[in-house]
Amino acid sequence: MNKPDALTLVIFGASGDLTRRKLMPALYLLYKAGRLPRRFAVLGMARTSYDDDRFRTSIREGLLSFVRPDEVDEKAIHAFLSCLHYLSADPSKPEAYAELRIRLEEIDRTIDNPHNYLYYLATPPLLYGVIPRHLKAEGLNRDGDGFRRIVVEKPFGYDLSSALELNRIYLDAFREEQIYRIDHFLGKETVQNILALRFANSVFEPLWNRNYIDYVEITAVENMGIGTRGGFYDGVGTLRDMVQNHLAQLLAVTAMEPPAAFDASGFRNEVVKVYQSLTPLTGEDIRHSVVRGQYMASEGRKGYREEEQVPTLSRTETYLAMRLELNNWRWGGVPFYIRTGKQMPTKVSEIVIHFKPAPYSLFRCEGGTCPVPNRLVIRIQPNEGIVLRLGMKKPGEGFEVLPMDMDFSYAELGRLPTEDAYARLIEDCIAGDPTLFIRSDAVESGWHFFDPILKYWQDVPECPLYGYPAGSWGPLEADSLMARHGASWTNPCKNLTNTHLYCEL
Ligand code: BG6
Repeated sequence: MNKPDALTLVIFGASGDLTRRKLMPALYLLYKAGRLPRRFAVLGMARTSYDDDRFRTSIREGLLSFVRPDEVDEKAIHAFLSCLHYLSADPSKPEAYAELRIRLEEIDRTIDNPHNYLYYLATPPLLYGVIPRHLKAEGLNRDGDGFRRIVVEKPFGYDLSSALELNRIYLDAFREEQIYRIDHFLGKETVQNILALRFANSVFEPLWNRNYIDYVEITAVENMGIGTRGGFYDGVGTLRDMVQNHLAQLLAVTAMEPPAAFDASGFRNEVVKVYQSLTPLTGEDIRHSVVRGQYMASEGRKGYREEEQVPTLSRTETYLAMRLELNNWRWGGVPFYIRTGKQMPTKVSEIVIHFKPAPYSLFRCEGGTCPVPNRLVIRIQPNEGIVLRLGMKKPGEGFEVLPMDMDFSYAELGRLPTEDAYARLIEDCIAGDPTLFIRSDAVESGWHFFDPILKYWQDVPECPLYGYPAGSWGPLEADSLMARHGASWTNPCKNLTNTHLYCEL
């Protein structure tokens, strides 16, 4: 890894939830493992009127809540906190950046940093366009003695035109190689493992296409509502929060061609090709292929419209299921069904590859069981692993073929790292490896596909938004989407071993 000796990480939005919950725990674990640059500092910037001490106290509290208890090491926490600094300033104001420059230079002197700066935007999306402009105006964007890199969170853009505008702003202030558009799903071990599964094994490749695959399901559902995030979530909705980014990444790694090389351009070129192959959806397709829903109060769980900061007549979707197709030689005619939702019965992310049935069935349905087609379940979280369903003969008379699961648990490879996806991605940015980050053309081609859906919902307000009881699997209309293919959604709580580990039903 090409790790620099010195670095200052500037976190905009340093008093917010993302910093406390995700960034600081990830940084602390990297620090403790000796994986950060030897001379390292964080400069947090936000409007909250903290000083260094107050900031450190709040981060300490966050670490105690969000780091696994066996990773809490008072000595390491103390040393880590001493690297943290805070600047109370409003990042939307140009004058804040002169102050920022002064603080950065002070810190540079203390840690002997040749001006290596990594800016992390953990702010509300409204500030995504403002910060790079101010950094540029203050000359804090250009590589000089040291490097300058900027990390920006999703959602990158609110729709196609705002994403294009954001790309224009970023590329005006930074070069593409300096920009790290982060999607934490790509930092997950099990998402990266899909690449290993597909491209380090030769058994799947001959089957991984329209000749052998009937359809593909991609699911990322959660059993929580939006909690205290109503202010952010309302008007954003699940298409922008989950589908255009996280589910699109899962689609890309499942459907992409093998890259010419596993490096930033090889991998990202193939991602873009997947998005460019998506068959565009017109109004009629949207009505028939996209089902949106919103959770309603049920059995003691709040409805979306009762959540904090959510208008009582909000039409923001908290669930989305859709059918999409890729117009290319590998996938022509194979439907991909994707779904995501809040307040579902469980939290699970998985991809199910449904293979076509054997061309001719030698074995009749015996004892009420018919041979079932093979399927491969790629479990991203929890209960990480891969399950291949095969038909096997039941011992005894006759030829009863039963479905049996070959179950590989990721844990067998060794303990999953305690640090999460954020740690991996932060470490990659520090090392200057943009492979697992979204390139500008991927953002744009992704939005080209999803934007017409948003436009349709806006232009045709009578397009249904289905209510579903909190704690259920979503609107029944999503079942009809699948029924047209003669299939039904896989219930992640059934048919797999170890279901007790993650299913609450
Ligand atoms: C975030 C979304 O990006 O991903 C959240 O904003 C969602 O709404 C979260 O809950 C899911 O991530 P994970 O890693 O917990 O599956």
